[in-house]
Amino acid sequence: EKGNHRHFMQKEIYEQPVVVAQTLRSYLRRLENKVALPDMDFDLAGVKRVTIVACGTSFYAGMVAKYWFEQFARVPVDLDVASEFRYRQPVLEPGGLALFVSQSGETADTLAALRHARAEGQTIAVVVNVPTSSMAREADLLLPTHAGPEIGVASTKAFTCQLAVLAAFAANLARAKGRMDADEEKEIVAQLAEAPAAMNAALARDEAIEAIAPLIAPARDVLYLGRGPDYPMALEGALKLKEISYIHAEGYAAGEMKHGPIALIDDAVPVIVIAPSGPLFDKTVSNMQEVQARGGKVVLISDAEGIAAAGDKCLATIEMPCVHPLIAPLAYAVPVQLLAYHVAVAKGTDVDQPRNLAKSVTVE
Ligand code: F6R
Repeated sequence: EKGNHRHFMQKEIYEQPVVVAQTLRSYLRRLENKVALPDMDFDLAGVKRVTIVACGTSFYAGMVAKYWFEQFARVPVDLDVASEFRYRQPVLEPGGLALFVSQSGETADTLAALRHARAEGQTIAVVVNVPTSSMAREADLLLPTHAGPEIGVASTKAFTCQLAVLAAFAANLARAKGRMDADEEKEIVAQLAEAPAAMNAALARDEAIEAIAPLIAPARDVLYLGRGPDYPMALEGALKLKEISYIHAEGYAAGEMKHGPIALIDDAVPVIVIAPSGPLFDKTVSNMQEVQARGGKVVLISDAEGIAAAGDKCLATIEMPCVHPLIAPLAYAVPVQLLAYHVAVAKGTDVDQPRNLAKSVTVE
């Protein structure tokens, strides 16, 4: 039931600190300062390459994971949308690890990709929210998210729980590969354990985000920009907005802006910039200034330091808590979801049951 929330989507956005904490409980050993995975009968140290396959929002979780696996474990990652995977005849080395990410565990393209990878001799790991699903049953390694049933068609809490599991998986892989010592592991465990609190702090911005929604609702097109692991968050923000508000939205890597989409910029195209302060901040801000120089109206999502440095010419800012780069995607998912939600409410669309969409896509 929706309780005192107006929509399931809103309820599920608000559940995130609790369900992410619940999910992390089975992947972190707080007292020992260690990450932990369920028992498995293969050796992570032997993994030379990971192939990640998923659709939609789950694909964007996989895309964040690609950054993490490569950065922390130095393991190369191939990433595909499931509907493309089989048909491009991917080169899969025997003994490789293929990882499938799905809320439902039933998405037809992802399931077909899983079976293809199995036939090609891959070890199959799945991150799924429905433990009785086909993907859960067919996996060698089941990595459950504990988001609980997700009713809203637009995925929210399943996504952040996927990120939590994938971050823990990245840390396990890094340890197995000898890329993470005990101090680094302790730090990662501590940062991940902070994620629910950071999400709560982001939820506390709800009213400010609601106040921005009327500025976005009249737009025909909206662009989202981010860099590094915040690039998939830009893609996710654009997907959320288009699916529930029906506004055309696109996510771009901030640095790609000047290779085409900047031609679209005028004062009628809001640009949402996802830029936590950190090593990539200055570069993203210079892309943001290119937008502003062309009359583009920017909504900057950053922390106090980022907003102090770059927020003055923005249409609006959303101030986030200061977070470690590892958990930024988890925390920044919240304002991105809330913005889409409030724009859709302002437009009066059917938030929980958007037109033409189904919760589980069981046709290819
Ligand atoms: C977007 C959304 C979809 C799903 C996609 C995959 O909000 O919900 O893009 O993420 O259909 O579904 P699962 O994760 O069930 O495989």
